[in-house]
Amino acid sequence: MRLKRTHNCGELTSNNKGETVRLSGWVENYRDHGGVAFIDLNDRWGTTQIVFHPDIAGEHHNIAHTLRSQDVITIEGEVSTRPEGMANDRLPTGEIEVYIKDFELLNKSKTPPFDINHGGDTNQEVLLKHRYLDLRSRRLQKNMIFRSDLTNKIRNYFNDKEFVEIETPILTRATPEGARDYLVPSRTQKGSFFALPQSPQLFKQALMVSGYDRYFQIARCFRDEDLRADRQPEFTQVDLEMSFVDQDDVMAVVEGLFARLMKDLFNKELKLPLNRISFDQSMLDYGCDAPDMRFDLKIKDLSDVFVNTGFSVFKNAVKNGGAVRSINLKGAVDNLSRKDLDEMTPFAAKYKAKGVAWIKMTEEGPQSPIVKFFSEEESAELYKRMDAKVGDVLIFLADKEEVVCQSLAALRLEMGRKLGLIDDNELNFNWVVDFPMFGKDHKARPTSLHHPFTAPKVEHLDLLEDDVYAVKTNAYDLVLNGCEVGGGSIRIHQKDVQEKVFRILGIDEEEAKDKFGFLLESLQYGAPPHGGLALGLDRMVMLFLNTPSLRDVIAFPKTQKATCLMTEAPGQVDEEQLEELAIISTVEDEEM
Ligand code: AMO
Ligand code: AMP
Repeated sequence: MRLKRTHNCGELTSNNKGETVRLSGWVENYRDHGGVAFIDLNDRWGTTQIVFHPDIAGEHHNIAHTLRSQDVITIEGEVSTRPEGMANDRLPTGEIEVYIKDFELLNKSKTPPFDINHGGDTNQEVLLKHRYLDLRSRRLQKNMIFRSDLTNKIRNYFNDKEFVEIETPILTRATPEGARDYLVPSRTQKGSFFALPQSPQLFKQALMVSGYDRYFQIARCFRDEDLRADRQPEFTQVDLEMSFVDQDDVMAVVEGLFARLMKDLFNKELKLPLNRISFDQSMLDYGCDAPDMRFDLKIKDLSDVFVNTGFSVFKNAVKNGGAVRSINLKGAVDNLSRKDLDEMTPFAAKYKAKGVAWIKMTEEGPQSPIVKFFSEEESAELYKRMDAKVGDVLIFLADKEEVVCQSLAALRLEMGRKLGLIDDNELNFNWVVDFPMFGKDHKARPTSLHHPFTAPKVEHLDLLEDDVYAVKTNAYDLVLNGCEVGGGSIRIHQKDVQEKVFRILGIDEEEAKDKFGFLLESLQYGAPPHGGLALGLDRMVMLFLNTPSLRDVIAFPKTQKATCLMTEAPGQVDEEQLEELAIISTVEDEEM
């Protein structure tokens, strides 16, 4: 290369006036203004305007018009301030331009399949197939650089707090975090498989037994589960574990991290300690365990009001052990059309709700298809409980508790958005605490709500014997704007308790020994009390940048179908490889 750069494309200002500089980058935006041609030269630091003037550029002037978007060039030229009135305040380099004297075309570009910085409505598949080009866009470069910066800040924080960064294996055994495993066949142990870690959970617990006391890792995790905007099959955790701690110690370390990040990144003071809500309260008030508390619209239970009501839908729901709950959409009468109200039913149907009832509180009195069924006492009690005033709209759901919770949680968010109650610039953190230890799986058997290594609250140990669903844990989730950004717990550090929990989960002694033998063994060699947490790094970046999808913050993300369109992974492999891994058998094997 003849010309090596002296500056990047984002740093020249009027202070460099008169200097001869060399810049390298990608061409964007060729404009010919009658003899004088301009291009924008881009690199990841910025954009500099380059001028091809016939008197200065000489022979190079003739090349200017052959340059196309995304050609890679190096130029040499003189920095000049732009003429009066032509400065661009939006660019850091907007005061200057560089008059080209010498020039080298380093590589010609084919016409890109989309306009890199203005390809807003380009089909996602095209973007993902050419991810290396999309990653050249200002938008994604900004996101990736932010992520790099954030990761460094996180690392520094944990270093400052004397955490030791330790890498744990990717080829390992299953770590149950509730998803399917990605498996890797072993060549040397035919018929055996590694599992990619769903999290480093068991390794970090082992490290506590080893006495490291404070561990952290920026760890890659793999989960074969149904994807959503906030879920990728391969993602990154900021994983930490601490010894001789209780739940408040772990939470304080995490709060300290976020306070520092908020200060460093946004110059905002985070008020500590962060708000806490119990799992039970969160389910009642918000219908879910990751409540968005940027706005109010709390759910209220009215089941007891409608035990004997004339409205059979409500009455039957209560009689069958379900619930009737309502949200008061304060002052929404004029903002919601009849169509908006009618659309709630198909919306809630996605969550298996059979209908959504409503009452509009108007000057003329309550308007609704259902009030006629209510007794005077029921109506009075209902309006009192819901604090219903003229101008409000009440919405109701009656069903099994689970359906009521899920539907109202979704409706609450939808209405919060529709009514403009959500401040997009707010970052609202909340802890959800006191999780039950067990939920029920689809066959109504106990299953871990967090993971099987989470300790029951000491005062609930006895309940493991007779009422497992009443057992609460010291588990805690960190929720940011209604999205779970982190979760952790105090762990079981006694072998007998761990064995008991495995038994409740239907894992018999043999299976426990086979899958978690090393854990049970290790707990017998001086395992200290310990606990920790993992933060979803990708989700943090997504929420901090206020982007709608993890795809915007992961360099090479997977599609909804868990494929990579750029590399076309997963792909076919040679038959020979499959034979070697004993996944298909050779002809001789079959003959034998
Ligand atoms: P958990 O399963 O809650 O806990 O995961 C911790 C955090 O990781 C993020 N996360 C994800 N991010 C993107 N895509 C996914 N598919 C995905 N799944 C999870 C979430 C979540 O809060 N070992 C425990 C932690 C512990 O107990 O210390 C664990 O993995 O932000
Ligand atoms: P119906 O008697 O079926 O015409 O219903 C009267 C009103 O109750 C309609 O507005 C329905 O949307 C609503 N509704 C029906 N089922 C439910 C339910 N499970 N919970 C709340 N409202 C319902």
